[in-house]
Amino acid sequence: MDERVVSQSAYAEDDAAENSIRPLDFSQYIGQKKVKDNLEVFIEAAKMREESLDHVLLYGPPGLGKTTLAMIIAQEMGVQIRTTSGPAIEKPGDLAAVLTALEPGDVLFIDEIHRLPRSVEEVLYPAMEDFCIDIIIGKESTARSVRLDLPPFTLIGATTRAGMLSSPLRDRFGVHSRLEYYNEQDLSRIVTRSGDMMGVAVEEQAALEMARRSRGTPRVANRLLRRVRDFAQVKGADAISLEEADSALENLQVDRLGLDDIDHQLLHTIIAKFRGGPVGVEAVAASIGEEASTLEDVYEPYLMQIGFLVRTPRGRMVTNLVYEHLQLEVPGRE
Ligand SMILES: Nc1ncnc2c1ncn2[C@@H]1O[C@H](COP(=O)(O)OP(=O)(O)O)[C@@H](O)[C@H]1O
Ligand SMILES: [Mg+2]
Repeated sequence: MDERVVSQSAYAEDDAAENSIRPLDFSQYIGQKKVKDNLEVFIEAAKMREESLDHVLLYGPPGLGKTTLAMIIAQEMGVQIRTTSGPAIEKPGDLAAVLTALEPGDVLFIDEIHRLPRSVEEVLYPAMEDFCIDIIIGKESTARSVRLDLPPFTLIGATTRAGMLSSPLRDRFGVHSRLEYYNEQDLSRIVTRSGDMMGVAVEEQAALEMARRSRGTPRVANRLLRRVRDFAQVKGADAISLEEADSALENLQVDRLGLDDIDHQLLHTIIAKFRGGPVGVEAVAASIGEEASTLEDVYEPYLMQIGFLVRTPRGRMVTNLVYEHLQLEVPGRE
């Protein structure tokens, strides 16, 4: 079994566990103050006008709370949420079926919206702008286009990479919210809250240590907490202390900065095989046997955030911080 703690791809294992501790309204949603404050105003204004909320685009790395926020928006608007994803909608007809089933004011949440096929996107444009779709009835010579009215609705799109969205689609969202990596304080509050909900006491220093090693990401923080709890439970400890947390994290091979074995392989490979870079992400991916898109979505953004990796026109390069962290000698670069 894949025991990688920081990996974002083991969704199945996490889904059930995560859903049970997901914040249900803004008061439980920790951090992201700017995004939250703005959304609260837009929601209140829409409610005062008795209109549906403008379409919202949420973007940022995996695990930062996009799906959670979409659910909270629907909850705060007092409407239902229908959930689908870019890859799940293959044909224009699939989207038409989803859209015509909406009720007035509903939120339609499309996850991974950058993966919608272009032909489907084109159905979305008039739906977003004028709340209508054109469908083709009949075949060949008898085919004609019929315009169908839709109820007003709010589209919430989520994507890890806003840059991969076509600009006509991006422009049709009235609200663009970029989620940021969380600071230690907020992450430690998330760990404490999740611990409460799971029925485990987490000492303050232990929560901070887990926060520090969660790469700014609530999903990772919650996953570390679940694994640390396992170790504590087996040892019969009734609360998670700093020592408990430290030794569990050591066993999980999550280092002081929250980097796991894939991060280490990535950095070591760039240093050992590509002399520190620049090197293309495809070459690194092939060399360590990972998908390039996983490296780009999950691993690189955080390594860039902490200044370990820089993007140049010729590829990725590691910085001197990496040599320090890995306790390697900084080479002279030509
Ligand atoms: N602001 C937050 N406060 C508390 N917990 C959060 C917050 N954001 C995310 N989480 C937790 O992290 C998990 C992952 O969030 P999710 O919304 O699924 O991320 P994304 O959709 O961006 O990948 C959720 O199950 C939730 O429990
Ligand atoms: Mg999500």
